[in-house]
Amino acid sequence: MRILVTGGTGFLGTALVHRLLQRGDDLTVLSRRPEAVKAKFGDAVQAWSRLSAWTPDRHFDAVINLAGEPIIDRPWSAARKQALRDSRIGITNQLIKAMQSAERKPAVFLSGSAIGIYGDAGSAERDESAPAAADFGARLCLEWEQAALPAEALGVRVCLLRTGLVLHADGGMLKKMRLPFKLGLGSRLGDGRQIMSWIHRHDYLNALLFVLDHPDCRGAFNLTAPAPASNRAFTDALARSLHRKAVLVTPEWALKPVLGERSLLLFGGQCAVPAALLARGFVFRFPALAGALENAGVN
Ligand SMILES: NC(=O)c1ccc[n+]([C@@H]2O[C@H](COP(=O)([O-])OP(=O)(O)OC[C@H]3O[C@@H](n4cnc5c(N)ncnc54)[C@H](OP(=O)(O)O)[C@@H]3O)[C@@H](O)[C@H]2O)c1
Repeated sequence: MRILVTGGTGFLGTALVHRLLQRGDDLTVLSRRPEAVKAKFGDAVQAWSRLSAWTPDRHFDAVINLAGEPIIDRPWSAARKQALRDSRIGITNQLIKAMQSAERKPAVFLSGSAIGIYGDAGSAERDESAPAAADFGARLCLEWEQAALPAEALGVRVCLLRTGLVLHADGGMLKKMRLPFKLGLGSRLGDGRQIMSWIHRHDYLNALLFVLDHPDCRGAFNLTAPAPASNRAFTDALARSLHRKAVLVTPEWALKPVLGERSLLLFGGQCAVPAALLARGFVFRFPALAGALENAGVN
């Protein structure tokens, strides 16, 4: 398959590009840092610094859109919120324009989203039919999805990747948590009842390839394992996998002044379930948290 990838230099995109190369796909990666694309993948991948390189006569079978500024790293000032939007919705809009101009349209468009679309949903299960919430993170996901959907009118199959907390030591949440937990400073957040919908990176990649390759897959997919865990259970499981104990508690009042609106990302949660994947017969290699953490390379 000829595939265009955005976000291909990131934590998830890098692993994805390697998987696609292994199976013989022909890849182009759009990046602000084409030199990083070359450094990671060598000449096996074509690097584009601008989407204007997509001329109408150029054909891609698939477009996979993972670009986005990191969501939790910096305070959500008005300028930061705009950067979070531009790097997701802005790029998605540009991809749609390029698809409109393409003489031959891609067969499929996989576009990023996150389970944050369900907001702070307590312990109620959220499958793909659940409504979007109204906080900033949820609206960001919703607008990101809405920006991708116009591709359907071009005859392109659209899959929306509502991604959970992806587990692997290379990046994401586990990379940040590993050192404090290893030092015995791992802590439960607040009362620890908020639900964390996680997925091992291996299953994330398999699920992405599954929806890429199955022509009957379209619409939203929760990319989460079938067994979400409370923050308390997650904290204990991570500590156990590192042969430590997590006896500390970080109260919300201690972090709220630092995190502001972002505290919802840590002290809120949602119990997302992968109903659409399971209904189509997708099989998880790491359905349970202990096995996923064991394999995620943290210890
Ligand atoms: N990791 C998770 O657990 C998780 C969970 C839910 C959703 N997601 C979403 O999945 C996507 C990939 O996640 P990740 O963990 O791989 O993220 P990441 O490591 O932060 O990588 C993000 C990628 O987006 C590109 N990017 C960042 N800012 C950009 C900007 N201003 N303009 C254009 N491109 C920009 C970067 O590409 P260049 O620097 O090469 O341009 C980078 O490759 C993100 O959109 C993220 O929100 C991730």
